[in-house]
Amino acid sequence: MALRFAGFALVLALSTACSSNGGEEPQKPATWAENVAPIVLTKCANCHRDGGIAPFPLENYAQVKAKAALVAGAVESKIMPPWGAYDSADCKHRLPFRDDLRLTDQEIKTITSWANNGAPEGDKSKTPAIKPTADGVLNGATSFSFPPRTVAPSPQDDLRCFPIDPGFTEDTWIDATHIVPGDPRVVHHVLVYTDPKSESVAKAGAEGSYECFGGPNVANADLLIAWAPGVQPMDFRGKAGFLLKAGSKIVVQMHYHPAEVSIADQTKVQLRKLGAKPEWNAQIALLGNIDKEAEGLEKGDGDRDGKAEFRIPAGVKGHVEKMGFTIPPEIDGKPLPELRLFGIGTHMHWVGKDMSINIKRLSVKGDEPDEECLIGTPQYNFNWQRSYTYAVDDFMKLPPLRFGDRLTMKCTYDNTMGNAYVVKALQEKKMSAPIDVFLGEATLDEMCLGAFVVLAKN
Ligand code: HEC
Repeated sequence: MALRFAGFALVLALSTACSSNGGEEPQKPATWAENVAPIVLTKCANCHRDGGIAPFPLENYAQVKAKAALVAGAVESKIMPPWGAYDSADCKHRLPFRDDLRLTDQEIKTITSWANNGAPEGDKSKTPAIKPTADGVLNGATSFSFPPRTVAPSPQDDLRCFPIDPGFTEDTWIDATHIVPGDPRVVHHVLVYTDPKSESVAKAGAEGSYECFGGPNVANADLLIAWAPGVQPMDFRGKAGFLLKAGSKIVVQMHYHPAEVSIADQTKVQLRKLGAKPEWNAQIALLGNIDKEAEGLEKGDGDRDGKAEFRIPAGVKGHVEKMGFTIPPEIDGKPLPELRLFGIGTHMHWVGKDMSINIKRLSVKGDEPDEECLIGTPQYNFNWQRSYTYAVDDFMKLPPLRFGDRLTMKCTYDNTMGNAYVVKALQEKKMSAPIDVFLGEATLDEMCLGAFVVLAKN
């Protein structure tokens, strides 16, 4: 039955392709007013507007026409809009994503053919009146800030941790989170952790912040927010929440990327409080080789001494590392509750090119698949790391995670001078040729880490 449907769909696709290629009726050339503006004003101008995070505005005909060739190239190569999750041979996504920035193939074709055709404006009066909105406005939230930081020009990135006291005197549920960057020119990305024992305050001392590269260096820190430019608020709409224990502090790890001039930044963290305990408890779990023990690492190409080894040899393109994690029967001595995956992200450094996370289930219910790809980022870009959330309102329809299910992270690397990010990372260290890359948290180390936004039934 399924096969017959597929065949039927194929025939339909072929017949429409034939009729449009038949050329009896030449298609009307695309114009800004009728065809391009509706795409650019909804999919680009939110960032590409006056005061937005992008380096130039794309808000009106003159601005877009002036950059038509650049715009066409960026959408055709899928560099823009910034989005990493595409289907690939490794990974076909089963569920749609929320706030999906991707353009359809038809939209890409409209933009490229318009640019190739001299970027005509068309009938001005037909231009849609779409006002771009600022990214990520979280209503009803409290904003928390920390001492402003002046980021001076430097070849080195500045990774700093800032403690915040949210002043929660009782256990508090947070059902939505967001980051409002101070100056987008220097805010590379932002990670926010809990600090249940308030250790960050002493570390920050009188200066109000401390240097921190891999993480905040405080005990029992849970990741709360992973933000990069373009990421929309994480919003559980009252149905789920992160639990912040009474008296708990939070630590903000800012990744500043210095600009050519000194820039003062004042980023804000937004949290929305819930009045009561929600149906689901949200947590972010980080899985993958975060320690040197390399637990779960699978054997692969280039391993030495017959042992699984995380090593990306210098000068090799297409090197793969894989690691697995089997979900245990209990957590903290308690049987695993009903778990659902709300969102997911991939994390590698500069050598990383493609990462996918797959699940093989021990048991399934109803029409749940035995195996599925949860996320694939064949357009992986360190500068655009983010979490992706599924566009599914009924949490029981989100991917289940159960005891015995096996998660596999697969990471593909390009450790050659053909990878522009490798060249740049080497230059920053005054090096001119690739080196073997190992697991670690420094710029010239690599990772293969999955971030899982997991909901547990309360
Ligand atoms: C989430 C914010 C965001 C969205 C949405 C977005 N851009 Fe960008 N764009 C940026 C930023 C930031 C840069 C600067 C380069 C970088 O950081 O990668 C950029 C750079 C560009 C560039 C320059 C690329 C180069 O090679 O120099 C072009 C062209 C571009 N964007 C076009 C578009 C178009 C067309 C769309 C919509 C289809 C779009 N962008 C959507 C944020 C965005």
